[in-house]
Amino acid sequence: MAGEQVRNEKKKETGSQQQVKPGLFIVFEGIDGCGKSTQVELLARKLRRRGKRVLTLSEPTAGQWGQKIRDLARDKNSLSPADELELFIKDRKEDIKYNIRPALQSGQIVILDRYFYSTLAYQGARGLALEEIRARHRKFAVRPDIAFILDVPVSLALKRIASRPVIYKHFEDQDYLQKVRKIFLALKDSECCFLDGCRPPAAISRQIWQILTRKFPEL
Ligand code: ADP
Ligand code: TYD
Repeated sequence: MAGEQVRNEKKKETGSQQQVKPGLFIVFEGIDGCGKSTQVELLARKLRRRGKRVLTLSEPTAGQWGQKIRDLARDKNSLSPADELELFIKDRKEDIKYNIRPALQSGQIVILDRYFYSTLAYQGARGLALEEIRARHRKFAVRPDIAFILDVPVSLALKRIASRPVIYKHFEDQDYLQKVRKIFLALKDSECCFLDGCRPPAAISRQIWQILTRKFPEL
């Protein structure tokens, strides 16, 4: 993400209104079925056992825009990529304003299941220019301290979620998810940390803990 992107830094000297401190902002990303929700829960539990205040969130949210996305996503391609982008951005703006910023400001650890990297990957895979999606987010998005991208082959991800009720028809199509995975894997943002999501959940969780405690010794 370019330099203007708001960074969740703990620097005190700049006095920027965009700063969010003293919390920690952790994001999980990857294609549907890669194991995000599982790792969010394992990490939250581990942190809470250590007495940390943790807020787990997910996007699309349960708010008005997230609900609209869910309603519209039931029909294959019922929305244009541009309309989809607008809805995810509206949902994210509210999430940042009402949930993420206040929690970080009060010193909580925020663990978020999907963020703007999903918009880059999913709406990018529908043909929108990645630079345009980034430019839209630069104006309002808080940059996470770390973003774990769980990578698994599409065939494995689809096997894992085969028994789940299909809500997002067009988001779970095999060819589409191949494109989405490719965009995730090409992300160059320095906060992105790529993990092999094919290993057992406990092994992935241990690796995440090692990375976090090395990078953020205060944990
Ligand atoms: P996501 O939130 O990325 O869609 P989930 O965490 O809901 O993925 O996992 C999808 C399914 O795969 C669930 O049934 C979950 O129990 C299972 N699962 C999650 N992580 C793993 C893993 N590392 N290995 C095997 N199965 C997993
Ligand atoms: P989610 O509920 O996280 O699905 P899952 O638990 O299967 O991973 O996300 C719903 C769908 O919305 C998912 O297929 C990805 C898609 N999505 C986008 O296309 N753009 C976005 O910006 C976000 C946050 C999600």
